[in-house]
Amino acid sequence: MRIDVVFGGAGLTPSEVSGRVVAVIDVLRASTSIAAALANGARAVVPLETSDEVVMRSKALERADVLLAGERRMRPIPGFDLGNSPSEFKREVVEGKTILMTTTNGTGAIASAAGARDVVIASYVNYTAVLTMLRTALRGGTDITLVCAGRERQFALEDAGCAGRFVANVSKRLIGVTMNDAAQTCALIDRRYEQIAKLFEASEHGRALREAGFEDDLTACAEVDSYSVIPLYQDRQITKLGPDRER
Ligand code: MLT
Repeated sequence: MRIDVVFGGAGLTPSEVSGRVVAVIDVLRASTSIAAALANGARAVVPLETSDEVVMRSKALERADVLLAGERRMRPIPGFDLGNSPSEFKREVVEGKTILMTTTNGTGAIASAAGARDVVIASYVNYTAVLTMLRTALRGGTDITLVCAGRERQFALEDAGCAGRFVANVSKRLIGVTMNDAAQTCALIDRRYEQIAKLFEASEHGRALREAGFEDDLTACAEVDSYSVIPLYQDRQITKLGPDRER
């Protein structure tokens, strides 16, 4: 039974994902917004690399069925319906819709995990739901990789802290779990920043979001277990794990 943490999706190799359960973490803010959208009844979230791809894809679909969402430099993309603030993905806006989404780091990291046995989208807001799934997989002998999306190919403290909380609890009371140094280090970061608000204050992206006027997003992204949703990436789209798709 093995747990590995990797930083940034770009360098992921097939061997790091095949046969494994991969959890992609982009706490600020893509993972959190995706969990909010699916918990509030969105039909699916389609992660795409560029804004052009989002616009092109939307033209192939019934406009009334889709929403264009995403950010660049934290700001909503001109002409899109939504930015990347979790509070924008409320039920009266997203219910029954397909959300075409592009963000700076998160959507790319999700796409890079394709090929794994399962790809789940993880954050603090759906922490226990995802933890339960990861523990079931590990106990069943399936190795786990936690992908920290990071920030423009750089290490991001908030993703590492969240990954550390999963590492600490997914292996609890399990004998013979081995992990890479990155996983051990993330567990230390989580212990150092038990208070998530303090973690966000210490993180570059957390500070940048606050300076850009998105402090409400920091509060929303720190609300542990506000959703019990398990977002699964399969066939190039993210839908929520439901009774018809037990794992
Ligand atoms: C990302 O994908 O890099 C983040 O979600 C960016 C953000 O929302 O500020």
